Amino acid sequence: MKSLIVANWKMNTSLADANVLATMIVNGLRDVDNVTVVVCPPFVWLSEVADILAKSSPQIFVGAQNCFYKENGAFTGEISAKMLESLCQYIIVGHSERRKYFSETDSMISQKVEAVLAADITPILCVGEPIKKSDSIDLVVEQLKASLTGIRPADYSRIIVAYEPVWAISTETTGEIATGEYASLVCAAIKKAVGKNVRVIYGGSVSEANVADFLSRPNIDGVLVGAASLKAKGFIALCKKVKDNNA
Ligand code: PGA
Repeated sequence: MKSLIVANWKMNTSLADANVLATMIVNGLRDVDNVTVVVCPPFVWLSEVADILAKSSPQIFVGAQNCFYKENGAFTGEISAKMLESLCQYIIVGHSERRKYFSETDSMISQKVEAVLAADITPILCVGEPIKKSDSIDLVVEQLKASLTGIRPADYSRIIVAYEPVWAISTETTGEIATGEYASLVCAAIKKAVGKNVRVIYGGSVSEANVADFLSRPNIDGVLVGAASLKAKGFIALCKKVKDNNA
């Protein structure tokens, strides 16, 4: 299966930046055909970015960074998975920044996964331990199971799990990153818990420089890229590296 590269732009870009970045990605990845790329802009630019990515060849997919679990109703400021149906093919759910700054619980996250599946969109379910400790793997597996409460095991293969150790996210300043070896151990435990056919990707300060270390591991099926996805040149180089790795 092709490696998956998910670009999480987080709360970054103006409309003009988003247009330029998406256009550069489309142009820069024209010959990159053996990776699957998903671009997740802020909600407000989803439509514009989707229009630009619609011209991509090979196809680059669109993802949202979050959604609410109810389909509609009196939930001021929220956006349902159903509303995103015609705009994107993937939705990130349970990112650690949502868990931390917006108090999202495993129970809310499992309802989001259910809503995303019901809308026939692929959820990218994020899990990860806040600090690296000896029981980190158990904690991650526990969090994963809690975030999948109520989901039928038959549907697990429709979900992508993103392992993102919180201590390794956006660490340009501290330089603390997970090694491919460590990430692979945790991803193997995730696959053991949910099944080998579930795609598991790694995220946390992934860059052009370290992506090969993650993707050369048998249990890691792709990467979730934050900061390094905001610079077109570096992101395109990262995708090309993954392509070469797959060749
Ligand atoms: P980072 O973000 O690549 O900037 O560490 C990854 C993420 O949080 O999804």
